[in-house]
Amino acid sequence: MKDALQCPSLFKAYENYFRIGAAVNGRMPADPAYDALICRHFSSITADNQMKPMFVMDHKATLAGGDPLHAAVRFDWVDSLLSYAREKGIAVRYHTLAWHNQTPRWFFAKDWSDAEDAEPASKETMLTRLENYILDVMNHVNTAFPGLVYTWDVVNEAIEPDQGAPGLYRTRSPWYMACGEDFLPAAFRAARKGQAPGQTLCYNDYNAFDPVKRDAIIDLLKKLQAENLVDTMGMQGHYVMNNMDISLCEAASRAYAALGLNLQVTELDIHCNSGSDEAQQKLAQLYGDYFAMLRKLKDEGVRIEAVTFWGVTDADSWLTGFRRETSYPLLFSREKKAKPAYDAVMNM
Ligand code: G3I
Repeated sequence: MKDALQCPSLFKAYENYFRIGAAVNGRMPADPAYDALICRHFSSITADNQMKPMFVMDHKATLAGGDPLHAAVRFDWVDSLLSYAREKGIAVRYHTLAWHNQTPRWFFAKDWSDAEDAEPASKETMLTRLENYILDVMNHVNTAFPGLVYTWDVVNEAIEPDQGAPGLYRTRSPWYMACGEDFLPAAFRAARKGQAPGQTLCYNDYNAFDPVKRDAIIDLLKKLQAENLVDTMGMQGHYVMNNMDISLCEAASRAYAALGLNLQVTELDIHCNSGSDEAQQKLAQLYGDYFAMLRKLKDEGVRIEAVTFWGVTDADSWLTGFRRETSYPLLFSREKKAKPAYDAVMNM
């Protein structure tokens, strides 16, 4: 395998198709090897964690502020990544504004209490807190870093067929428990107010290829579209090598595009639990077929804005922890070599 820095640029190869992005963590910008790899191969970055609410909402300052409707925010982590992106001329997709996970529990509590048994804040309070938070983040980012963010994950992972009715929403989400489905249009309405020209508003979810989940997402997207609140469907794309079905990905992509929306692949990885030549060849085949499908859709006029890998090298993947076995899911190896999957994606 060749050193990834000796290989032709991934994003340049895809310049006529869509942006190629990667999720990066807070340590990468200061690491010369990662910095070089990111700048060579990616034209877009996303924070794997540090733009999520838990890294932006500031409990102490919120308590000190004494405003029951307005959480205090801090932007040191957000700004450090945005500064890096601006310095390197790399575009940013902001992940994420409203999510059931990695949002502090005190944000949902009356009087900002952090107690486990705290009384929940009322629906009305939560809808106001939501709007204030979204506008604080968007106004800050768009003022301090104009033109850098091209898309916002406004709501992440709100549909969960396993949690059942009604409408297949994720009913155990603190957002759903506080506001029912109303938090979704409320989040997008706030984001419409805060967005700058040229930015798109995205609904982002995993298993978006699955027909049951796909149809539930489509119902949601139609409701949002009735108020012109959403621009882009973000299909996360966390796949598993042994059961990835590219025809389902294609069918779902077409179904979302048929609504008139833009499309993004936002968190691409394909779990593969072996680094053997045979397994990595099979992974390469899948990546090759998947990118061929995306290029075909783009050639047919589907507006694919970006394809973002969830990590830069196999060493950074969340999958090894999540699956409790070593994963080899990306295009670059732990040693920062270009894997057969890289060649397959480049073989256009
Ligand atoms: O911040 C704490 C730190 O204080 C503590 O010392 C450390 C000890 O484990 O944990 C740190 O939190 C970790 C956090 O990442 C920040 O690094 C959590 O344990 C860890 O579970 C968390 O995982 C992230 C996960 O989202 C949380 O849901 C992954 O890195 C991140 O890749 C993953 O990304 C999500 C997308 O946002 C949404 N779609 C699915 C995707 C994969 O799960």
